[in-house]
Amino acid sequence: TASALKDIISHAKEYGFVFPSSEIYDGLQAVYDYGQNGVELKNNLKTVWYKAMTMLNDNVVGLDASIFMHPLTWKASGHVDSFNDPMIDNKDSKKRYRADTLLEERAAQLEDEGKEAEAKALLQKMAKCLDAGDLEGVRQIIIDENIKCPVSNTANWTEVRQFNLMFSTQVGAVSEDASLIYLRPETAQGIFVNFLNVQKTGRMKVPFGIAQIGKAFRNEIVARNFIFRMREFEQMEMQFFVRPGTEMEWYAKWKETRMKFHLALGIPATSLKFHDHDKLAHYANAAVDIEYKFPFGFKEMEGIHSRTDFDLKAHQDLSRKKQQYFDPEINENYIPYVVETSVGADRLFLAILCNAYTEETVGEGEQEKQRVFLNFHPALAPVKVAVLPLVKKDGLAEKAQEITNSIKFAFNTTYDDGGAIGKRYTRQDLIGTPYCVVVDYQTMEDNTVTVRDRNTMTQERISIADLKEKIGYAVSM
Ligand code: GAP
Repeated sequence: TASALKDIISHAKEYGFVFPSSEIYDGLQAVYDYGQNGVELKNNLKTVWYKAMTMLNDNVVGLDASIFMHPLTWKASGHVDSFNDPMIDNKDSKKRYRADTLLEERAAQLEDEGKEAEAKALLQKMAKCLDAGDLEGVRQIIIDENIKCPVSNTANWTEVRQFNLMFSTQVGAVSEDASLIYLRPETAQGIFVNFLNVQKTGRMKVPFGIAQIGKAFRNEIVARNFIFRMREFEQMEMQFFVRPGTEMEWYAKWKETRMKFHLALGIPATSLKFHDHDKLAHYANAAVDIEYKFPFGFKEMEGIHSRTDFDLKAHQDLSRKKQQYFDPEINENYIPYVVETSVGADRLFLAILCNAYTEETVGEGEQEKQRVFLNFHPALAPVKVAVLPLVKKDGLAEKAQEITNSIKFAFNTTYDDGGAIGKRYTRQDLIGTPYCVVVDYQTMEDNTVTVRDRNTMTQERISIADLKEKIGYAVSM
């Protein structure tokens, strides 16, 4: 469904998935909170990812490293020196923009006008300036192209400056003793600095991987598109340590494995594609994105990078602690190469939400109406089952409560007796509950209930005794 992003944002808010942070104070840009249904969906995504990593692979184990790390970590990783975005301010509107984004948008506009060669030349010119650190050159292109600020509609620009994306703060209570530390901009470094701890204590043999889920922070200059680009977000990363020279085989393997993961979550192949990087990050020798077709176009959801021995080597140099592995099969010591897979939990959440959002026309003639439902894979749905007594009287409500109590620890179950049954179905459709169990008068006679399917809206009568097993099966991956 090619629903507009604004429909998805308002649905997410109205039905308890995502709220703007500190909304009573008018929110905080690019920071969001997950509501009662959002937290369930996000936890389900994280669990599925973590299990896929650690249980489907014999040689991938978990880690939970801290957000704060020794400041030298970020010197070694290159983030202190190179984790920058070029920014420019408009003098009239005082609005700040990413210089590269302004030029990319201009190139996209040229492409739309059929001037593909011009668009390409523009991007090449920009890349050349950025690679050479020629910020004045970047500014000159913006002036030459007569790019105007969308707010003030003037081309009155400041110089271009590099802006480091890391947030910093101080540790230590007394200001004289305090030292500057950063909030991690990626979870990966927590894995690199623990590589030998895990390898030795777990007696891990290369190739092996370490998987981690955790918060990361980036002071993004332009935050746009809802939870696509946030200042505080969550990453699900896995670093896979391999023998040097074998990295391209593993890169190919993880590319395929990660694509299968997204397909297994119910995202259709037509909404996913690989996009090779034209420009490699400072640490990579090969890199590809898995892109999802968001309402605002195909955009990066996950990155798969061959990081060589860049990180371990840099940590070895700066810490003066050997980061080598002895490979008994070839009788050699080496610093392993790393293939990483890195997906944003929030971006995956947005992709899953966009993919699930469905508008359809049901019924015919007088009965025809529009309905909206969230077509989540049952394993990802925030609530798995709603138990609904047809009426509250004659013991039906008590029976429904009894059923709820018998299954509620097995999967997320809700009880609802408020309002007409059709309204209650709709309420569940809107949050993507795959099954509604209805207790009616027949239940009181033969201990059977009807189970209504969210997508087909058809009902099946089954015995209460079979409920736990049948639904348990249907909502597992
Ligand atoms: N360790 C490698 C790394 O961090 P990245 O491409 O910068 O690579 C990986 O980030 C993933 O993290 C992205 O594909 C995206 O899903 C997510 N991500 C990055 N920045 C984000 C942001 N500002 N908001 C939400 N997710 C973000």
